[in-house]
Amino acid sequence: MVKIAVMVSGGGTNLQALIDAETRGEIRNGEISAVISSSPDAYALERAKCAFIPSYVLRRRDFGSAEAYGEALAEMLEQLGIGLVVLAGFMTVLSPAFCRRFEGRIINIHPSLIPSFCGPGFYGLHVHEAALAKGVKVTGATVHFVSEVVDGGAIILQKAVAVQPGDTPETLQRRVMEEAEWQLLPRAVSLFCEGRLQTQGNLVNILDVG
Ligand code: GRF
Repeated sequence: MVKIAVMVSGGGTNLQALIDAETRGEIRNGEISAVISSSPDAYALERAKCAFIPSYVLRRRDFGSAEAYGEALAEMLEQLGIGLVVLAGFMTVLSPAFCRRFEGRIINIHPSLIPSFCGPGFYGLHVHEAALAKGVKVTGATVHFVSEVVDGGAIILQKAVAVQPGDTPETLQRRVMEEAEWQLLPRAVSLFCEGRLQTQGNLVNILDVG
């Protein structure tokens, strides 16, 4: 069993999608062992509690630098024996040293079709505002490995979502979550835990079973 840590900062709907998938038996060979929040007020902590998952709060502002934060986080993850780190709405940028230490073992969900609308500054509603301002007719979500380059790691799964006339950033955000994020993230986590993700440079192959 791969022990999974889910890193959160806010509402935690992607965490909930993972919890629900695990309950349905859809996370094969993996178990959510810890939820780590960068904020004590994140509603995601409530979701962890309801699912009896141990949770921890590690606030960025309690550390002098991104490096110190990354070291504390790495120690915690190693003590817990975590094999996969899932960033699910985690709003703190991780240090390059942390990304290297856990290379190939951190995945992130981003609410656009990378390489569109990604990189520094593209988080939360800003992503959907930018998509609407550009007038794209299709957007979506991407699950990718985390590297030192923000939103630049190897792409694991993507799903397209149609933009509808009259969409606001809020309605688009909700549709991208419902139609893409909540499906893609549990699927990618299961593929990882099953050992079915094979990375060659910046390319990820999904291996068939059997
Ligand atoms: C999601 O849109 C995710 O793609 C982005 O942050 C948001 C988190 O939402 N990285 P939630 O906390 O999972 O509800």
